Amino acid sequence: MLYLLFLLLFIACKGSFLKTEPDVRSSIISVLEKVTVFIENRYRDINLDAVLGFRVLQGIVTQNEKWPLERELLAQHTQVESMIKKLSSLLEKACLYDLLSEFAPILGPHFWIIPHSWNQTDPLMAYSSFDAANCFTEKMSDACFTYLLGTWKENGNSCIVTSACRNAMTKPACSNYCLSHQLLYFLFADVKGCSDLLFLRTQDYKNIFCASMMKINLEIENNGFNVSSRDLFMENIMLCGMSGFSDFYKLRWLEKILTWQMPKEGCFGEPSKELERSSGVENQKKLLRRKVYFAYV
Ligand SMILES: *[C@@H]1O[C@H](CO)[C@@H](O)[C@H](O)[C@H]1NC(C)=O
Ligand SMILES: *[C@@H]1O[C@H](CO)[C@@H](O)[C@H](O)[C@H]1NC(C)=O
Repeated sequence: MLYLLFLLLFIACKGSFLKTEPDVRSSIISVLEKVTVFIENRYRDINLDAVLGFRVLQGIVTQNEKWPLERELLAQHTQVESMIKKLSSLLEKACLYDLLSEFAPILGPHFWIIPHSWNQTDPLMAYSSFDAANCFTEKMSDACFTYLLGTWKENGNSCIVTSACRNAMTKPACSNYCLSHQLLYFLFADVKGCSDLLFLRTQDYKNIFCASMMKINLEIENNGFNVSSRDLFMENIMLCGMSGFSDFYKLRWLEKILTWQMPKEGCFGEPSKELERSSGVENQKKLLRRKVYFAYV
């Protein structure tokens, strides 16, 4: 689903780009229509990422007033809006909201906002090397998220930054999903309006994280976009795009991503055997925790 996001980010955020690339625009829409069909068939298997991704998408489309107003574009906007309506009702049927109440605050339709100004990453700010071995666990980052969101207990306070979380979320040289979760932590704090002193340095951390995520994405590109790295590649684009770094929106990347959709199923990535077997709550949770991305979109 992170995909879907990303694709629509393109549509929504880069008005000028839109105007000059009508073919790209209609490719994106037709890809999204296939995705909708896929989700229609498989909404029971939807995961947290998918819902989250969809909410970001929805935020972007509904908050974007700069949608070009020519007639053809208006027609496309209507098309996208009706797709969103359909997806929205499908995702409600997916019933993840009960299941994942820890994340409920981020799953609401109004949680996500789009950047008001854009900048580019500075390659000099990227880590010179990554230290994948010494990062934190996903359990740890989930716990830190719940302290920020106030969902660590019923009616819990939000914006709590423990020293363990501060250390983990600012740890240098993290890579891959650890790195994207560090950025996500600061994005959550933004949206929650947290005022801990740590967040005075939010922009500095975003600059470092996204410069490093750009470095990783360029490496993934140089390695020929192997299947196992595609999900991370797109997650990086989504999160740094949301953080205001427009250099993640590269036409050549978008064109590449559009080729990854499976023509028959409409989804992206490789169907996993595990997914086929899973249906229960526990499995869903496990899938989520272990980040088995079945790349919905
Ligand atoms: C853009 O980012 C660079 C470094 O990443 C920073 O020095 C500069 O101040 C930023 N510009 C704006 C307008 O925020
Ligand atoms: C896939 O690409 C990633 C990222 O560039 C790289 O670290 C990994 O070794 C590659 N895997 C295979 C199987 O080629």
